[in-house]
Amino acid sequence: MGTLVIVGAQWGDEGKGKVVDLLSDRFDVVVRYAGGPNAGHTLVVGDDKLVFRLVPSGILRPHVSCVLGHGMVINPGSLLEEIDQLIERDISVQDRLWISDRAHLILPYHIALDGLRERALGAQKIGTTKRGIGPCYEDKVGRRGVRSGDLFDLSLTRKRVTQALTGWAPVFASLGASPPSSDDVMAGLTAHRQRLLPLIRDTAAFLDQRARDNNRILLEGAQGTLLDLDHGTYPFVTSSSAVAGGACTGGGIGPSHIDAVLGITKAYTTRVGSGPFPTEVHDHHGEHLCRVGHEFGSVTGRPRRAGWLDLAALRYARIVNGLTHLAVTKLDVLSGLPEVYSAVGYHLDGEVVPLPPRNLAGVRPQLQAHPGWTEDISGCRTLAQLPKNARTFLDHIQQFSQLPIAIVSVGPRRDQTIMVTDIL
Ligand code: GDP
Ligand code: IMO
Ligand code: MG
Repeated sequence: MGTLVIVGAQWGDEGKGKVVDLLSDRFDVVVRYAGGPNAGHTLVVGDDKLVFRLVPSGILRPHVSCVLGHGMVINPGSLLEEIDQLIERDISVQDRLWISDRAHLILPYHIALDGLRERALGAQKIGTTKRGIGPCYEDKVGRRGVRSGDLFDLSLTRKRVTQALTGWAPVFASLGASPPSSDDVMAGLTAHRQRLLPLIRDTAAFLDQRARDNNRILLEGAQGTLLDLDHGTYPFVTSSSAVAGGACTGGGIGPSHIDAVLGITKAYTTRVGSGPFPTEVHDHHGEHLCRVGHEFGSVTGRPRRAGWLDLAALRYARIVNGLTHLAVTKLDVLSGLPEVYSAVGYHLDGEVVPLPPRNLAGVRPQLQAHPGWTEDISGCRTLAQLPKNARTFLDHIQQFSQLPIAIVSVGPRRDQTIMVTDIL
């Protein structure tokens, strides 16, 4: 037995890519279960840095099969670009990268609509990645989406594209724009189709067979708990199920197969895009976190907003994901701060509440101060090598979240990691 879900416990960019890459040498299959090219998962191996948007972060391990699951939305052109980058590095995807035949395709009108809508929202904008994510999932729930498996039948694909364009026509008109023609959309799809078809299959059946063969399966989340459509800071969320439950629907694996759920949290917090962020700091502390943590979006290059670790939100992440373990990343970024802070609750109506309320807008955090440390910890490989104050901070995280810390990350590279406990 060995099926692990890895999920972002915050607002994304927690270091999921690094942890998935690191752990994938112990797995046979890695499945991305949600989101699309809004994700940017960074892997640093030696001097090489790769950012994956769609391809699962296990692809660098030659023995690992990778699956783009049902819950994903896939831009065919972006996927082929990523595959080409891998081929340039002599990393073969042949017979080990599979696309679910149920995954939906992001088409040019989704991207156009995402941009037009954000512009129309003005100051109220969500701050999306403008990759067409929301409109593509809208077509999925509106039951007029185009799925990758439809590409086997071009006349069916054309029918679906035409249906979707008819549905969106009034929206384009209300935004003062015209949709692309179905001929143009089909020409793009036809150009990519031949390369994609050999990768498309029923991935649920494939995973079932792998599970029966006692293969170990890792399910890689994208985005984070607080960006989840149901559990996040709605409406400032993405349009998919980023939480661990999404691994079942989006991966095509039943809940009884899941053995452990690892939540990834930074030792502080970042957020890209709009929406509430109670522990955000705008002073020299925020500047330190952004500068030392290189906090710029890996998809859009936008500067990330930064703030203190929100333990009340982490507790919420434990609840809604059923987390069994934690990985704390970027602890090295806190080095050099005389004091670090964590939120242990929120001030609400004259009380301090332990969990995020439905609406976090304007909510003030209850902060706790912790003594900092000055040492460079990026060379530490055991907990004992960490400065005492760093260990105390980790203890506080464990105590407050009621979760064991299995991994502490002290730098972007694979080796810059403290493995604390086994997960499976
Ligand atoms: P993801 O979306 O969750 O995979 O995270 P991103 O890749 O978008 O952002 C995490 C960033 O932090 C990347 O640039 C990683 O290379 C980097 N990173 C990951 N872990 C650590 C760490 O422990 N310390 C430092 N300094 N950087 C890290
Ligand atoms: P990874 O997997 C951080 C954010 C966007 C925006 C909101 C909605 O790298 O952690 P969307 O384009 O999805 O409709 O945008 O969600 N967002 C992310 N923020 N990391 C991500 O992915 C994100 N994916 C989406 O910035 O606020
Ligand atoms: Mg990212």
